[in-house]
Amino acid sequence: MSEAHAARWEPTPNNLQSYWMPFTSNRAFKQSPRMISRAKDMFYYSTDGRAVMDGTAGLWCSNAGHCRTPIVEAIQRQAAELDYAPNFQFGHPKAFEAASRIATLAPADLNYVFFCNSGSEAADTALKIALAYHNVRGQGQRTRLIGRERGYHGVGFGGISVGGIVNNRKFFGSLLTGVDHLPHTYNRAEQAYSRGEPAWGAHLADDLERIVTLHDASTVAAVIVEPMAGSTGVLPPPQGYLQRLREICDKYGILLIFDEVITGFGRLGYAFAAERYGVTPDIITFAKGVTSGAVPMGGAIVRDHVYEAFMTGPENAIELFHGYTYTGHPVAAAAALASLDVYRDEGLFERARELEGVWADAAHALKGLPHVADIRTIGLVAGIDLDPHKDGVGKRGYQAMNKAFHDFDLMIRITGDTIALSPPLIITEAQIGEIFDKMAKLLKSLD
Ligand SMILES: Cc1ncc(COP(=O)(O)O)c(C=O)c1O
Repeated sequence: MSEAHAARWEPTPNNLQSYWMPFTSNRAFKQSPRMISRAKDMFYYSTDGRAVMDGTAGLWCSNAGHCRTPIVEAIQRQAAELDYAPNFQFGHPKAFEAASRIATLAPADLNYVFFCNSGSEAADTALKIALAYHNVRGQGQRTRLIGRERGYHGVGFGGISVGGIVNNRKFFGSLLTGVDHLPHTYNRAEQAYSRGEPAWGAHLADDLERIVTLHDASTVAAVIVEPMAGSTGVLPPPQGYLQRLREICDKYGILLIFDEVITGFGRLGYAFAAERYGVTPDIITFAKGVTSGAVPMGGAIVRDHVYEAFMTGPENAIELFHGYTYTGHPVAAAAALASLDVYRDEGLFERARELEGVWADAAHALKGLPHVADIRTIGLVAGIDLDPHKDGVGKRGYQAMNKAFHDFDLMIRITGDTIALSPPLIITEAQIGEIFDKMAKLLKSLD
């Protein structure tokens, strides 16, 4: 072996430099890392041995809690039995089983599941299906996509085009053309300290009529919204808002897509938010909770009429030119099946529904503490807006996240100066109390 070759395989000191971390202030992190080495149930364990309460289910995904034995064992068994199988022109039983189980959980005739590996891919998959749906029905002129200000649909070019979080868009060129955005639904003066769906704001859906008229309805393919906007900082839908969107989409033959990457699998107390609101979209996207975060998986669930529109032409023809090497990955499918079993056996969606009031009481008790400007709760989610620090927007939020981890053994999530809390659905009432005790102390400790 040459010396140069050997040098490339030398053990390297792990000085943290090589990993370019996602959505992270890399330089600050590498100076003062927040490092996690293991997890169990409601807790992470830091590399310095502290039990850190998981106030965020990881990134809104570990809904069954961490390292749950049935999920771990299903993953282990599957990796040993069938590590990988192509899903293009071949199949394996667990992908079909997982699709059937998810379709059965989904409301109404949302009966067909297309798998991918993440929420971003799920959003792009849904947008592509919507465009192709109109195309195969002879309405290829329907190319416009409507998103919403402050929306988050992942980081693919489709997702950031319809998304409305400015920092996620502005560095990346002109994006998809023919996209427009609904106004976001937040108005502090009208909605402050809301529990559940705010009473004010349904009329904001009527802006869709304006957009549709402006562009000509016959050019619009789909509207995509998160039923509850999560990543932007927790904006529950105003009462009646989603129903209005559905009515307007129906009026103009536009597909309605609910991005349920966060709201799916129990976060709002139901399998999907569509069920909570009694509104049936044409496509639901999901990811995260489908495997309780244990293995990457995402997907799009479509209604009968969407799937059936593609099932024409010669039987040996491919109906949709879309898919990923890891679509329906066996290990992900096994993790999904095991996660669904845990959700069912432990009644975790119902549990989230039952705890919603206790959670809301505990969160809203923070009102009046230093820096708190608004609190919003829904399901097992809370958004807490902090007044910005005089030295700049985002500084106080960052300080809160850092201090929560280091000084209060609590993981919280921030978007700017908004704290988002979304614990695993296995949380107990006592642990809810603990999270908000820690939060109260944290708020009092901030500059
Ligand atoms: C509503 C929504 N859509 C899409 C995504 C993107 O998911 P991923 O990070 O798995 O690509 C997220 C992630 O938070 C999300 O909240």
